[in-house]
Formats: sequence, C-alpha cells, structure tokens
Amino acid sequence: MPILDRQRRPVRCLSRRGLLAGLTAGTAVLAAGRTARAACALTARQIEGPFFPTVIEDHDWDLTYVSCSAGRAEGEVIEVTGQVRDARCRPVSGCVVEVWQANVHGRYDHPRDEPRGRPLDPNFQGYGRVTTGDDGAYRFVTIIPGSYPAMDDWIRPPHIHFKARAASHPALTTQMYFAGHRLNGKDLLLAPLSAEHRASLEVAFDTARTDGVRTGTFNLTLR
Ligand SMILES: [Fe+2]
Repeated sequence: MPILDRQRRPVRCLSRRGLLAGLTAGTAVLAAGRTARAACALTARQIEGPFFPTVIEDHDWDLTYVSCSAGRAEGEVIEVTGQVRDARCRPVSGCVVEVWQANVHGRYDHPRDEPRGRPLDPNFQGYGRVTTGDDGAYRFVTIIPGSYPAMDDWIRPPHIHFKARAASHPALTTQMYFAGHRLNGKDLLLAPLSAEHRASLEVAFDTARTDGVRTGTFNLTLR
C-alpha cells in the first residue's frame, strides 16, 4: 500500500448511506433501554487527542468504504453498536455520535500524524457520524485500528475515539478500547483508571454476525 498524501487522495462523493444511519441498530439494545430503570454507570471521560479530523467529507456509518472508491478498507471488519442513555438508563434521542480512529496501520488521516512508515489507506473513511433516534441506539461498521506510538516509550493500544453531543446533556468525549488487548494494561490513559471506569471503556468483540463480522456493544451513559 503506497503512502498517499492528502493532496493525492481521490475525490470523494456525497454518500447516501448516511441516510440509513441509526435505523438498523440492534433490537437488544433497544429492549434494554426501554425496560431498565436501574442506574447506569457513567461512561468514563477521556481526552479528545490531537487527531480529530480537520477535513470531513464522507461521514456515514460505514467507515470501511469511501464513496466513489471500489475497494474496501484494510483490516478486520467489526460492528460497533450501543445506546446513548442517561444515568437512569433512559435513551437519549437526537444525540450526535461521532467516531474517529486510526487505520489498520495505526495512522490517522490527519496532517499532524507523521507517516513514520505507516501508510494511509485510501479506502478507509476514518470518521463517522450518526444521530440517535428515539431508542438512543447507534451503529457503526469499521475496522480494528492499529496501535501507534504516542511517545518513544508509549504505544497506544487500539482504540476508537467517541464524541456524543445532545442538547439535553453535557457532551461526552471518550475512547473505546478492545478488551483483553495486551497494550491496555500499559496505556497511560487507560491503565490508571479505576476498575469501574476502565470497564466502561473496554469492549469485548466476542460475538459474530452470520457473516462472521465480530460485534461489540459500547453504551454511552451521559451525565
Ligand atoms: Fe487516538
């Protein structure tokens, strides 16, 4: 895979897939939101980090395709679903959920992320945005991101950045991690957290759809 600069990337087209965003989230999440009234643990907050996209073009729920490009993103495809809810487990509708992440090589499509041998993937969208409906549910299809060096002695474990914004609640910025990854216990942002806070950010991808795509549930509990 050649290294591609921003200037050499193919022109993207408007996506129609974004129109389907949030309409196909799992029914299990919906059922949980309607029946549970017990307190839901708040999702731990994390820093936004330096790589929020500077240019947003294609932004639908499927990060594994870029409009007008025939190929699919490199890496293992996964599905991330969840529900935005409040501390009483009531679904939060009208919440804008944004995700951004590195590609399979651990590279962000961001001018401040120097290549250092990590190529861009022209078929990876890198950012997605959906709005929750009445059930508070969201869904993204993406790939497991690669780890990357944050400093000489600090390798960030694979993670996906999240931002959830609703008019009715304070915004939540955080990061989702992959449960059991060997780098989680050494990460300077994740490892120091309490067990409860860490559990709110680590997601197991141990179930699979009929097509073999592993899925994980990452609920976002707003204050
Ligand atoms: Fe990051």
